[in-house]
Amino acid sequence: MNQTSRDGFTSSFGVLVATLGSAVGLGNIWKFPSLTGANGGAGFLLVYLLATLLVGLPVMIVETMLGRAARANAVSAFDRVAPRRQWWWKSIGWMGFAAALLILAFYSEVAGWVYAYVFKAMAGQIATTDRQVAGAVFAELVANPLSSLLWQWVVLAVTGSIIMFGVARGIEAVTRRLMPLLFILLLVLCARSLTLPGASAGLSFLFSPDLAKITPAVVLTALGLAFFKLSIGMGCMLTYGSYFRDNQNIPLTATRVMFADLSVSLLAGMAIFPAVFAFGFEPAAGPSLVFMTIPAVFTAMPGGTLFMTLFFILTAIASVGAMLSLLEVPVAILSERFGLGRKRASLTTIAAVAALGVPAALSSSLTSDLKVLAMNPFDLFDFLSSNVLLPLGGIMVCLFVGWVYGLPEMARQLSNDGALRNQRLVSVVFLLVRFVAPLSIAAVLLHGLKLF
Ligand code: TRP
Repeated sequence: MNQTSRDGFTSSFGVLVATLGSAVGLGNIWKFPSLTGANGGAGFLLVYLLATLLVGLPVMIVETMLGRAARANAVSAFDRVAPRRQWWWKSIGWMGFAAALLILAFYSEVAGWVYAYVFKAMAGQIATTDRQVAGAVFAELVANPLSSLLWQWVVLAVTGSIIMFGVARGIEAVTRRLMPLLFILLLVLCARSLTLPGASAGLSFLFSPDLAKITPAVVLTALGLAFFKLSIGMGCMLTYGSYFRDNQNIPLTATRVMFADLSVSLLAGMAIFPAVFAFGFEPAAGPSLVFMTIPAVFTAMPGGTLFMTLFFILTAIASVGAMLSLLEVPVAILSERFGLGRKRASLTTIAAVAALGVPAALSSSLTSDLKVLAMNPFDLFDFLSSNVLLPLGGIMVCLFVGWVYGLPEMARQLSNDGALRNQRLVSVVFLLVRFVAPLSIAAVLLHGLKLF
């Protein structure tokens, strides 16, 4: 592989947008509210914020750094930065390969629901503040095996045809223009939700923590969310990092993306929870929460149908940016390591996701009783990837950088060979990845999985 002919981002702004496009997605609009609702609200949010700052951000910085230093896919990267080292460092990339497929299998299904809701919104079928009606519409969608599969395949066809041609102009240009619109729409939604009668109960659910609700399992879920949100722990940021420019300020880019991503999640939370309490929805409704609540807020405002449609379109677009970054992990591995060619690598990946996606898509119908660890395939894939593989990948990356790669090389990489004066910052990040992050991830993982 020739470095100069390798694909890559073309401008500093392009890097920022693509990285943000990877971070912002269904994680903010669907996962963050569902998990916050199901895990007791503000206490969960607090732990999630801590996990993001103390673990997520440092891991994001060093993972991206490894990618840029190696300029290769997630598997080959460790051959380059860890030549002649133990085999297990090289397994990080393969773990990422597996995690990417697992995440895509359920993520594409949720994206399918979003696509379906674009049409339901247009047809006025979800314009209701009645939780019974809203719940029935969602239940009907997911209980139908055929439409579940078809929507997932539509999503895979869309993202597959984009990834095949590289990220280039298409998606980068689209997300760059439309993401700000999603942000504005969320602000409008918040304003409406916050002025609903009874909205304050939602705010206190979101912002006044009840420490008793913070159990080890809750902490593990919050940590998993922090990884999921920042697209770290499975080689995704590593792969994107390999497309970064040499003079990109990695710590700064990561910090900006983290803050922007957090604000989208918080906006989504503030759009949803006041409405949950105002209209009497169940905060712990799980994956269906957003699909019932958001339409209710729009229904309660003028021009609802139009804005609701727009909202689901923008969410669909956000999901595309995130899925592309997930797809890029296996696609880069397959094309660079097996010489498959971009097109064949993309098709192989899409086919694998489609196959794994079948049990996930049918989790509310045909495979609902197919339980492993008391979870249906959809929940199992989500749990295994977010709560097991991502933290595990995160630990390995931290241990590798903290104990094998070392501070001098890290300082050289993160300062762009001395061009940036960020030594103090780099030392702090180093301490976090050498001690704080791996120890806390290990403790949370073992406790949360009830292994000790
Ligand atoms: N961060 C994205 C979201 O919140 C999802 C995502 C993209 C992701 N790439 C990833 C999650 C890599 C884990 C790992 O929607």
